[in-house]
Amino acid sequence: MLKSSFLKQFFKQKKMVGSIAPSSRFLADKMLNHLAIKEAKFIVELGPGTGVFTKKILAEMGPESQLIVIELNEDFHDNLQKTIVHPNFHLFHDSADQLGVLLKQIGGEKADIIISSLPFANLPPELRDSILDCIHENLEEGGYFVQFQYSLQSKKHIKQRFPATKISYTPLNLPPAFIYSCRKRD
Ligand SMILES: C[S@@+](CC[C@H](N)C(=O)[O-])C[C@H]1O[C@@H](n2cnc3c(N)ncnc32)[C@H](O)[C@@H]1O
Repeated sequence: MLKSSFLKQFFKQKKMVGSIAPSSRFLADKMLNHLAIKEAKFIVELGPGTGVFTKKILAEMGPESQLIVIELNEDFHDNLQKTIVHPNFHLFHDSADQLGVLLKQIGGEKADIIISSLPFANLPPELRDSILDCIHENLEEGGYFVQFQYSLQSKKHIKQRFPATKISYTPLNLPPAFIYSCRKRD
């Protein structure tokens, strides 16, 4: 999908899409490079858009890894469905708060890694809270939740569930982004 098509989706559904352009490869590297993707059994991606992170995860995951991807925007979903063919890729046209149900549908109890690009700052507070609760509930102990945002607006809500969250920043993205890296602990 072209960058211009991403912009078109932004103008159609500004709050849902939350950005004018797909993420850069610098942001993708910073989000994903420290994760043990190859060894993970169940990996979840929320809000893949045009699939910048999706393709990198698929290229790095091991033969036993399963990738569950949830996208609410119909055009983004349909484009990924047409263009990605992989036996361990499970794409759903649904909302991220259905994560637990969808993970179980493909035989997973908990995810080892959850990657999210959801625009939390644009979501209604009840939906944001329900998605964050769902992420926490469906992540393995010791598992990683990695999320980017364009502001620190959601910091408080993320830290409530993941007190040991580390935040880093990359200017090499449009717009520049904060990366929240969260490990689930008892
Ligand atoms: C900022 S874009 C990021 C797209 C892509 N991951 C990237 O980095 O280029 C946010 C994405 O989240 C999706 N999204 C928004 N709300 C969602 C929800 N409740 N459930 C699933 N996807 C959602 C949007 O449709 C969009 O694809």
